[in-house]
Amino acid sequence: MGLEMGRTTNIIKNDEYNKCIKIIKAYEKNRKFCKHNKKHFFDVARIAYILKLERNLDLNKEILYAAALLHDIGKFLQYESKVPHDVASAEIAAKILEQCNFTEEEINEIVTAIKEHRKKDDNSSSLGKIIYEADKLSRNCFSCKATLKCNWEDEKKNLKIKY
Ligand SMILES: [Fe+2]
Ligand SMILES: [Fe+2]
Repeated sequence: MGLEMGRTTNIIKNDEYNKCIKIIKAYEKNRKFCKHNKKHFFDVARIAYILKLERNLDLNKEILYAAALLHDIGKFLQYESKVPHDVASAEIAAKILEQCNFTEEEINEIVTAIKEHRKKDDNSSSLGKIIYEADKLSRNCFSCKATLKCNWEDEKKNLKIKY
């Protein structure tokens, strides 16, 4: 089992990917909590992989990382023109994944999970469910300084450490 994942490295070096991250950063300049930056993307990737291991799920590591790294990449379009960011991210991700040598089948799996990442739904794909869960778990609400501005209901917040 190799630990090197060539195509996910392609993603983080991809021009389009970095351009999107820069635009999101500008929109979130004054945001004090829950930013959509590389740190968030890696947190989601690693938590998703932990869940995969704990549950013994049949998910490919590279595909799982790719989905996590790209799941919010279209967030700026939500700020810019109110396009829901699951839809925007899915569209941009498909383009980037093609440039990073993912196959059509792999792109479909990742794009589906990105479209599913905002809602808890029993009908979601296994990858979509894991990304949803890891995304929520990645937010350290218990030490957040912006609780009053947060639009998550209290039951959704991670007020205790979950493990
Ligand atoms: Fe998201
Ligand atoms: Fe996210």
